[in-house]
Amino acid sequence: MKFTKKILTGFFLLMTFGVLIGTTSCTKSNTPQMVKLEAPERPAGQDNVLQLRCDPIPTVRVAFIGLGSRGLEAVRRFMYLEGIEVVAICDINKDFVSKTQELLTENNKPKALEFTGEEDWKKVCELENVDLIYNCTHWALHTPIAVYAMEQGKHIALEVPAAMSIEDCWKLVDTAEKTRRHCMMLENCCYDFFEMATLNMAQQGLLGEIVHAEGAYIHDLRELNFKSPEEGGYQGMWRLDYNAKNKANLYPTHGLGPVCQALNIHRGDKMNYLVSMSSDQFGMTEYAKNKFGENSDYAKRTYEKGDINTTIIKTEKGKTIMIQHDVTSPRPYNRIHMLSGTKGFVQKYPIQGIALEPNAHEFLPEKEMEKLLKEYEHPIVKEVGEKAKEVGGHGGMDFIMDYRLIYCLRNGLPLDQDVYDAAEWSSLVELTEISVRNGSIPVEVPDFTRGDWNKLQKLEFAK
Ligand SMILES: NC(=O)c1ccc[n+]([C@@H]2O[C@H](COP(=O)([O-])OP(=O)(O)OC[C@H]3O[C@@H](n4cnc5c(N)ncnc54)[C@H](O)[C@@H]3O)[C@@H](O)[C@H]2O)c1
Repeated sequence: MKFTKKILTGFFLLMTFGVLIGTTSCTKSNTPQMVKLEAPERPAGQDNVLQLRCDPIPTVRVAFIGLGSRGLEAVRRFMYLEGIEVVAICDINKDFVSKTQELLTENNKPKALEFTGEEDWKKVCELENVDLIYNCTHWALHTPIAVYAMEQGKHIALEVPAAMSIEDCWKLVDTAEKTRRHCMMLENCCYDFFEMATLNMAQQGLLGEIVHAEGAYIHDLRELNFKSPEEGGYQGMWRLDYNAKNKANLYPTHGLGPVCQALNIHRGDKMNYLVSMSSDQFGMTEYAKNKFGENSDYAKRTYEKGDINTTIIKTEKGKTIMIQHDVTSPRPYNRIHMLSGTKGFVQKYPIQGIALEPNAHEFLPEKEMEKLLKEYEHPIVKEVGEKAKEVGGHGGMDFIMDYRLIYCLRNGLPLDQDVYDAAEWSSLVELTEISVRNGSIPVEVPDFTRGDWNKLQKLEFAK
């Protein structure tokens, strides 16, 4: 990542214009107090894509690119959706392409066009008979495929994170605005049952004013990261590589997405700046030594990624968000998902609980919590929750996400997640890296709406 130039630009701006955020009365240091990255101006004639509506597509013709563990699973879920055709499939691994064809045949679907070359994703994006590209490749290919797909007139749904740099976040935003195509990051955690019910509670005021929220991706991935592709690990072991080269939060969107929705980010509030801190690295090396031996290449390799990264974000309306990332420590899976308001508190991990005024010192008894969750069950979950549980995919949330994507495209409605969500939530990858590499310095979060963050007042699920 090209941090240095951008940081310098930020420092330069700060020094030149004196835009220091806050003052330090106890030091005489001239150190700039916040890194501010350059934001490209919106080209003349280009408008925002808030609430973007496109022509309805009665049957959505889909092409899947990347058919590894996530991509194949997505195709399986699509077999349960109405109004779709899988017209093309693409992966450099020919076995995965064959497996996907078998899946289509088992489901009495016609064979899809096959693509297996390294750059064939371009040919797929160029196909005339495709409406939606569904991108489940590794991280480095997310933005290039998304941008090219939109340039070819296609809508794009892409796996998380949508982008690994701020430059790529802006590319997604600018291309979506220029081409007027949908760009939805597939943030499935926003569709989990508890997250959706608590979003409903937040939107209906049960929790009062939400003042603080927390989210995380805490998931022990050591075994998977060190597994070879032949044993079922990531193809090309791309995820291990990212852990070796980056220090901070590589995977912020699962924790951040649902809490940003509850806090109306770019729908009345916006993230202003963050500070981020990583522990040193211990666990990867220890694991590699134990598994492969003290003198193995894996044990000798440098892993930059601190075991646990913690980031705090301040919003325009004075709220705070805490986000953590840890894929190394031996501990239970945890996305936290906590919302703390002036009237109540909800939390999903490690123990699901709801506490409300006037007795918020204690969680509600389980039966009362279940009753409340039923009462505030999100209308979308009411509509499709049972089917989603049958289809599965992280307990059903993946299916709800696909269902909503296709429903909105078929009906010409705005999607639940827009390109600004994708950019804002993904932007933490580089922003946290900058903060961590510079002594946890505050870093400004770009306003990807370029001033339009206050035009909508809350997230609405279009019907
Ligand atoms: N939302 C979730 O819950 C969730 C869960 C797991 C993974 N993911 C995301 O899904 C994505 C894929 O993860 P995965 O676990 O399936 O990884 P994977 O390595 O199993 O799959 C990636 C696939 O992309 C293919 N690929 C690589 N280069 C290609 C190219 N040039 N053209 C076409 N295909 C190419 C690989 O061969 C592989 O099959 C990642 O972005 C990951 O973050 C999301």
